[in-house]
Amino acid sequence: MNETIKTILARRSVRAYDSRPVESEKIDLLLECALAAPTGRNLQPWFFSVVNSRDLLNRISAANKQIMSESAEPMARQAASDPNFDSFRGAPLVIFVSGRKDASMAAADCANAVENMAIAACSLGLGSCYLAGFKPALLAPGGKALLKELQVPEGYEPLYGLAIGYASEDPGERPARNPNVIAKID
Ligand SMILES: Cc1cc2nc3c(=O)[nH]c(=O)nc-3n(C[C@H](O)[C@H](O)[C@H](O)COP(=O)(O)O)c2cc1C
Repeated sequence: MNETIKTILARRSVRAYDSRPVESEKIDLLLECALAAPTGRNLQPWFFSVVNSRDLLNRISAANKQIMSESAEPMARQAASDPNFDSFRGAPLVIFVSGRKDASMAAADCANAVENMAIAACSLGLGSCYLAGFKPALLAPGGKALLKELQVPEGYEPLYGLAIGYASEDPGERPARNPNVIAKID
């Protein structure tokens, strides 16, 4: 098994981090990997907000907690009632990926970038967690100011985030994958 395949198979979602900041050289490498992802018609319809500010992350998470606590969904209300609720899982760094609204394949393109970063992070000894649960806070009317702080350009919408940092937990075995989703056609 080569190193690339080993890394792909080793990656897990990490949901607890220590406060050690991620080195700027590593952040730059992650972004280089993000930009190397394939995009439909090579449109590269993405924008990356690299947030090292826990203050901003805490404010987005607090807005999200408030929205979730008023949700009709019992699971959302239950998650919001956790005193340790954090949409960003305590990570010191989150890279938000926003997609151009007029690019029909932007969601796939941005997802490719996030996955490239997640695998690269794993190869660099960093933990990461793919995120989308933070979005209600940014899409709500009150989210406009937060989007401005994230410097998301006009015409783009927040799609995903990647929490990144040094893991303070061992996420253990990967949750089982359903193998019955493959047809081999000769
Ligand atoms: C589009 C997408 C959105 C996700 N959003 C969240 C999230 O908001 N919070 C979270 O803790 N995990 C989130 N995850 C992580 C998944 O829960 C995780 O990938 C899945 O449980 C499988 O675990 P693994 O990544 O360790 O293999 C998201 C994953 C994807 C692909």
